[in-house]
Amino acid sequence: MTTAVIGTGGIGSVIARRLASGGETLRLSSADLESARTLAAEIGRAAVVAADNRDALRGAGAVVLALRFTVLKGVINEIADVLTGKVVVVPSNPLGTDAQGNVSRLLPEGHSSGELVAGWLPAGARLAMAFGSMSADLFESASNRSPEPAVLFYAADDDRAGEEAERLIRAAGFEPVKIGGVEQSGRLEVGGDLHDLVVGPAEARSLIGGA
Ligand SMILES: NC(=O)c1ccc[n+]([C@@H]2O[C@H](COP(=O)([O-])OP(=O)(O)OC[C@H]3O[C@@H](n4cnc5c(N)ncnc54)[C@H](OP(=O)(O)O)[C@@H]3O)[C@@H](O)[C@H]2O)c1
Repeated sequence: MTTAVIGTGGIGSVIARRLASGGETLRLSSADLESARTLAAEIGRAAVVAADNRDALRGAGAVVLALRFTVLKGVINEIADVLTGKVVVVPSNPLGTDAQGNVSRLLPEGHSSGELVAGWLPAGARLAMAFGSMSADLFESASNRSPEPAVLFYAADDDRAGEEAERLIRAAGFEPVKIGGVEQSGRLEVGGDLHDLVVGPAEARSLIGGA
């Protein structure tokens, strides 16, 4: 099946490589398309570079928005009319970097990124918060773990978004575990209790019940 990946930087490139190795066909897009071209050349036949962000959605059932939180809303607005019926997968953590390079959380305590992103999406788009719960290096090293796969947690309100997130998580070499609705997505973020964990399914299930 075909999935769009908009944003081919630190996490988008790793997600795209893992999905391609799991048999997914990809349509890639990035700000100036240069990083998308480099990544597509590395992946080979499973990936093509789209003409722009809207074109990335052509023929795709889902889109991964692997974008910094500060550009996410603008890109959603840009592609809003082609999101109807699509599953939107968001790995973004609500972090910003100031001119001195200091990283800080952009949302007040108790506010989840998922609720904010859900409010930015047009009606008819189906949101899953997923693929942002591990650093890119950890995500790459934990995929296709054997004999027991590592878990990738996700949050979704919409059943079809959840099913598609699970399919993509399995394609990327992980076992999916749902933590709840998008209001729970703060648990997946940097600083959340489920961030950067590499655990198997049994431990994952005891953790999600334990908060
Ligand atoms: N990196 C990680 O380890 C990691 C892990 C988990 C979650 N996350 C989260 O994932 C998000 C992305 O992080 P990152 O590290 O991948 O950031 P990044 O390396 O800066 O990559 C961002 C990507 O977004 C693209 N982009 C920027 N503006 C765009 C636009 N208007 N249209 C299309 N593409 C655009 C950039 O294009 P160019 O390549 O052309 O500049 C780049 O490919 C963040 O919210 C972060 O918190 C990151």
